[in-house]
Amino acid sequence: MAFDVELRAQLIETVARFVREKCVPLEAEVGERDLVPPEIVDEMRELGLFGLAVPEVYGGLELDMETECLVALELGRTSPAFRSVVGTNVGIGSQALVLFGTEEQKTRWLPGIASGDLIASFALTEPEAGSDAGSLKTKAIRDGDHYVLNGTKRYITNANVADVFTVMARTDPDTPGGKGVSAFVVERDTPGLSVGPPEKKMGQQGAHICDVIFEDARVPVENRIAGEGEGFKVAMSVLDKGRLHISAVCTGVAERLIREMVAYARERKQFGVPLIEHQLIQAMIADSQAETYAAKCMILDAARRRDAGEKVTMLASSCKLFASEMVGRVADRAVQVFGGAGYVSDYGIERFYRDVRIFRLYEGTTQIQQIVIARELSRAAERGEL
Ligand code: CAA
Repeated sequence: MAFDVELRAQLIETVARFVREKCVPLEAEVGERDLVPPEIVDEMRELGLFGLAVPEVYGGLELDMETECLVALELGRTSPAFRSVVGTNVGIGSQALVLFGTEEQKTRWLPGIASGDLIASFALTEPEAGSDAGSLKTKAIRDGDHYVLNGTKRYITNANVADVFTVMARTDPDTPGGKGVSAFVVERDTPGLSVGPPEKKMGQQGAHICDVIFEDARVPVENRIAGEGEGFKVAMSVLDKGRLHISAVCTGVAERLIREMVAYARERKQFGVPLIEHQLIQAMIADSQAETYAAKCMILDAARRRDAGEKVTMLASSCKLFASEMVGRVADRAVQVFGGAGYVSDYGIERFYRDVRIFRLYEGTTQIQQIVIARELSRAAERGEL
């Protein structure tokens, strides 16, 4: 949607107010109960947050990437578990359909995904295929007008509540790597599909990841997204967008932590003056601010380029690499500025410290982003474009 400036400002202010007034006060409770209250999820539905990236014609807000990143920044200003509720519908769970789905597929699933009546999830990772996603083993063998799926997917976000999964599976067992992989929409109630219990995690309590197991699960041929053998490229294109969104979330969390650091450093006194007057404290806050600003500039630039039709694989990886590492440093400094209080649960800083650690892992580790950036540069050089 070509959101005009005023409408965009209104949307962002509405999300900011929701985060400030509804989510922030519940952060400790969500962390302790490992649950985002259903009333909050309902409010997210009413605000249209599940449909940020779904075309208007299917009931979504159809935000451009720049606006989506600005919304993700606002959602980042609270415990990341809240963002995770809508995260898969906005990103990796819906975008294979948005980018590559047929009209029938879009009409069937996108309206429910946009409204939040359906929760969408993305099943790529496996016990033996994490960073090397192209080596996945889950099989989808054609049998008449169905594919029969067998295998296990691991650490699948929102699997416990998902209604539809985008599943990457090997349709050609004789072709190794990404070329033998296809993508499917698989509904939760498909016989032979089961979901394991949520894993106990280091952080982001309230957001859940589970195994998804396929045992002779029969999936109609019409549920295949794009052609046979095109599933790996589908997954990678989805991740290009997802990595920008995650980068914006990282930056929102960093901005929140800077606010916390400044407030605490102005209040707390040591050696007779507020912490903020100590130059070593100033250095930690200033470094955090400069890095956060750099991340924000990168992300908005990359988002605008994507909106203009540029391929942003390298830029998205650059943003993900920088923003996820950056928020790790900022969270570490926040603990340091808070001192002992940073290590005590009541202040919430240690929770953010644990929460942000996953950003350097999921949707591609830092090391995978480095590989993508270097390969893209090498390819550009080969084309004489560097
Ligand atoms: N867009 C479109 N196509 C792409 C692409 C992209 N961004 N990246 C690669 N491709 C294409 C390539 O062009 C190539 O096609 P051709 O053979 O026709 O040339 C094909 O895909 C294979 O590409 P590579 O040779 O580069 O593949 P590779 O096996 O060497 O791996 C990789 C590339 C970048 C390492 C990839 O495996 C990768 O990104 N790994 C990380 C996976 C990841 O991010 N996992 C996170 C899972 S999601 C998640 O976190 C779960 C959650 O719920 C939050």
